[in-house]
Amino acid sequence: MMAVYDELRHRLRGEPRAWLVTGVAGFIGSNLLEALLKLDQQVVGLDNFATGHRHNLDQVRGLVSPAQWSRFTFIEGDIRKLDDCRAACAGVAEVGYVLHQAALGSVPRSLEDPITTNQANIDGFLNMLVAARDAKVQRFVYAASSSTYGDHPGLPKVEDRIGKPLSPYAATKLVNEQYADVFARAYGFRTIGLRYFNIFGPRQDPNGAYAAVVPKWTAAMMAGEPVWINGDGETSRDFCYITNTVQANLLAATATSDEATNQVYNVAVGERTTLNDLFQAIRGLLLPRFPHLADFKPSYRDFRAGDVRHSLADVTKARTLLGYEPSHRIDEGLREAMDWYVAHVGQAKCGGGK
Ligand SMILES: NC(=O)c1ccc[n+]([C@@H]2O[C@H](COP(=O)([O-])OP(=O)(O)OC[C@H]3O[C@@H](n4cnc5c(N)ncnc54)[C@H](O)[C@@H]3O)[C@@H](O)[C@H]2O)c1
Repeated sequence: MMAVYDELRHRLRGEPRAWLVTGVAGFIGSNLLEALLKLDQQVVGLDNFATGHRHNLDQVRGLVSPAQWSRFTFIEGDIRKLDDCRAACAGVAEVGYVLHQAALGSVPRSLEDPITTNQANIDGFLNMLVAARDAKVQRFVYAASSSTYGDHPGLPKVEDRIGKPLSPYAATKLVNEQYADVFARAYGFRTIGLRYFNIFGPRQDPNGAYAAVVPKWTAAMMAGEPVWINGDGETSRDFCYITNTVQANLLAATATSDEATNQVYNVAVGERTTLNDLFQAIRGLLLPRFPHLADFKPSYRDFRAGDVRHSLADVTKARTLLGYEPSHRIDEGLREAMDWYVAHVGQAKCGGGK
């Protein structure tokens, strides 16, 4: 189990590399930063704090040694500006790897404001591609999305069978894949797209109108506030713990075979969980610490526009070509995530006597 990833971490520790993580102050970016610094890597981070937070960086600082933290350079900048992308790529030119995570997530955000989403997710993506190509980095790994499967009815989702996008967000992520493909053909640039399914874990933001389901429900339950399920609760997702996502990024960046590069891969576990089951799992984990959840029930409302009904990944391609072996199933991930939310969000939310 995890032989390829174990071997990779051993190799990286012995021979540290340079990495650029865009969106480093966000959920996935800050987890990549933590993992890389713990492996003694050199990391440049880029973020404009659109949806990320300084406190995510502060938290990583507290989790690594001073020597490891000294290997991190933060650039406050915006991927919508080509110069900022070039400045960030300069730190990893010729030798390094880019893990491009910066984007505006959320289907509903993109439905309300497609222009701003497009600017970050397509203009910003193209700027990063050009800057990384010109800096001659070793590999450009980018956050793609399961939303690219759109209206394709097939389950489980296999990489080469996609439908039409159902939201502006999904359209931007599809265009990212197309640009990456064109850069491979036209310039011989080496990329790998990772189609993340529903990723969750520490530092995923529970606040704001566009929060993802796991942190949003967790914070609501801890605070005794209503939990809303859009639809009948039988909508299902392939929830993937962040540790698996970090593994996929490191494997993708360092994969050497020609067959593995200029490809997109599903990043998930390969198991389906309904929203009703997710609600019960989170409630069950929080119950020992929050007795008010004993009789807690979700509230149901209409289905949400742009959402797909079922999502489940076939992860065979990543297993075969990258050696990806998810280490956490949903229950194991939720247990770790709940510990984090109780420690970091619980105090603030529950201190007010709720
Ligand atoms: N979390 C998921 O389940 C999921 C699923 C599919 C795809 N993704 C993709 O993964 C990536 C990371 O998502 P996340 O969940 O960590 O979200 P996040 O919002 O926590 O992180 C995104 C980061 O990008 C930064 N950013 C946004 N616009 C920027 C800009 N113009 N310039 C510089 N930085 C900018 C934000 O400030 C934030 O720190 C995104 O590309 C997202 O679309 C996430």
